[in-house]
Amino acid sequence: MKPRSLTSRLNNGIGSEMPNKVFSSIVGNNADLIYEVAKLYLRPGDRIADVTYGKGVFWRKIDTSKYEMFVSDLLTVPERLYDFRNLPYSDNYFDVVVLDPPYSHNPGYMIVDANYHNRETTKGFYHDDIIRLYRDGIIEAYRVLKPGGLLWVKCKDEIESGIQRMSHTDVRICAEDVGFFIQDFFVMVQSRRPVVQHHRQLHARKNHSYLWIFKKPTSAAEAKKHKKATVQYSIRHYCRGKAI
Ligand SMILES: C[S@@+](CC[C@H](N)C(=O)[O-])C[C@H]1O[C@@H](n2cnc3c(N)ncnc32)[C@H](O)[C@@H]1O
Repeated sequence: MKPRSLTSRLNNGIGSEMPNKVFSSIVGNNADLIYEVAKLYLRPGDRIADVTYGKGVFWRKIDTSKYEMFVSDLLTVPERLYDFRNLPYSDNYFDVVVLDPPYSHNPGYMIVDANYHNRETTKGFYHDDIIRLYRDGIIEAYRVLKPGGLLWVKCKDEIESGIQRMSHTDVRICAEDVGFFIQDFFVMVQSRRPVVQHHRQLHARKNHSYLWIFKKPTSAAEAKKHKKATVQYSIRHYCRGKAI
């Protein structure tokens, strides 16, 4: 008998319920990504702080009237020009915080800069400065999130002076260090063809980015339970030879 193709298996067998499921990789744009993430991680009535609102692209496919939305940005929301490192909100106030800072060093060279004015907020930044920006945003998000609240962090790896800088790993380390644990992780692959800025190619052109979903533990017991999955734990127990 002729073996059934992958497509037919997906369409017939166990795959028949798949259209309703949320997957960890998405081909599309940021609005498509957030649409999928929201299916799993937003509930009607959630109090949400988008602290890097930009142009609100994230929310283009979402009915935001279902949520209590607090949007701010250093530049693009005139009535709330808040720095995400120092927010005017009380402790333990939000169900969800969304953080999508400028993700690349030297934004003056980035073609997307025209959309987001990144040059104005991160002029002269090196990769390490970008990660410090993330770190400070993550610390402030931890403060304003309720226990059990979620932090969504968008990031993209980059190459700086010929060196691979894995922003998604840096962000993870910062978040775990602050006290979050990983709830989920999404990879978005751009559906449109990436813009090519340099003719000589030394590394694969990055046409994917990431969204971390971190959770603020509800209790010390929950934090302890997730300790084993942290980078620090892995370094101690695998890389330095202290086998468990
Ligand atoms: C990549 S864009 C965000 C795009 C947004 N998620 C959207 O859907 O349109 C980064 C944004 O971060 C803002 N920003 C940069 N530094 C900031 C800071 N310290 N505090 C608040 N916003 C900041 C910029 O003004 C810019 O709008």
